[in-house]
Amino acid sequence: MAKKITDKVTWVGKIDWELVYFHGHELSTYKGSSYNSYLVQDQKTALIDTCWKPYDEEYVNHLKETIDLQKIDYVIMNHNEIDHSGALPALMKEIPNVPIYCTKKGEGIIRGHYHQDWNFVNVKTGDTLDLGDSKLVFIEAPMLHWPDTMFTYMTGENILFSNDGFGQHFASEEMFNDKVDLHEVYSEAMKYYVNILNPYSPMVTRKIKEILAMNVPVDMICPSHGIIWRDNPMQIVETYQKWANNYQENQITLIYDTMWESTRRMAECIAEGIRQADPDVVIKLMNAAKEDKSDITTEVFKSKAILVGSPTINYGYAYSIGGIMELIRGLKFKNKKAAAFGSYGWSGEAVKQITELLQGAGFAVVNDGIRCQWVPDTAHMEECRRFGREFVEGLK
Ligand code: FEO
Repeated sequence: MAKKITDKVTWVGKIDWELVYFHGHELSTYKGSSYNSYLVQDQKTALIDTCWKPYDEEYVNHLKETIDLQKIDYVIMNHNEIDHSGALPALMKEIPNVPIYCTKKGEGIIRGHYHQDWNFVNVKTGDTLDLGDSKLVFIEAPMLHWPDTMFTYMTGENILFSNDGFGQHFASEEMFNDKVDLHEVYSEAMKYYVNILNPYSPMVTRKIKEILAMNVPVDMICPSHGIIWRDNPMQIVETYQKWANNYQENQITLIYDTMWESTRRMAECIAEGIRQADPDVVIKLMNAAKEDKSDITTEVFKSKAILVGSPTINYGYAYSIGGIMELIRGLKFKNKKAAAFGSYGWSGEAVKQITELLQGAGFAVVNDGIRCQWVPDTAHMEECRRFGREFVEGLK
């Protein structure tokens, strides 16, 4: 159902309470999501972004309840991943000649997905579209989070339509940040940032600087996922500045898998040693085979250091460790330290191999790791505690 955002702007998107995975199964979205689409009605009418394909007909039918589609003068596509462009074919069937404003890369992506020769208008940073009392100003934002991405700023209402930027996978009937549990929203906003935007943090920093230098009033930030920031909207911009700048908290996370509990026991003893050396540090233990991968990557983001452990199996490491290390590599974490650990029976390669994975993922590895043959005895367990204490010393 459409919801009025301001006199001129109406939310016409789709709340997806059922979404539990995004990007195939790459990212968990246990709080659902929304595909926010906005109808801007001035003397001219513009529609900003659409929604994901499974909801295309529902979306178009709801839109018809809000406006005669023939009155839409412009379609603005800030970003053309299918969660925002999936309803374009159903919409354009009804209004085939309406111009689609997007970046040149956006046109390429739309053509590549839908193979239609629609009326594209390519825009660049600083280009404007006059709607009457207000104007839309386009700001290219490549890699936030695809090469085609742009933001659209609406004068008069002072709204930044930021698409993926500042969004969260968070389904909510309440639309605004002052109407929801902010702790929950920030938790989802961080998970979103880590798993979607973290690899592009230098671009985030540059784009925020550019927007701040425009020195325009921002009364509202309307992303295309999750809630709208209207109460102190710049709070999420300031938070992004922190997240984009080698963010870390006083936390150490141990990620491991275990076959017969030896590597788990090692993880617990290392954690005890860490606690002995630093009573204040937050310590989290996560079994990579059992915990949600997107939650693990979010904890890595918060950590100043991680320890990754696996038993040696088939002359290598556990497949869950291979999977999570590939996710961690791709997310390009910076300024974090690490080491490896693990139990083994005979060959014992896993620790060396994980050390190499950590180095390849950009972590500063502080030592050669620790191994334990078979099941840790009292001496081995004390050795793991000492390893934990020394690991903390190595962080200084
Ligand atoms: Fe929400 Fe990059 O799509």
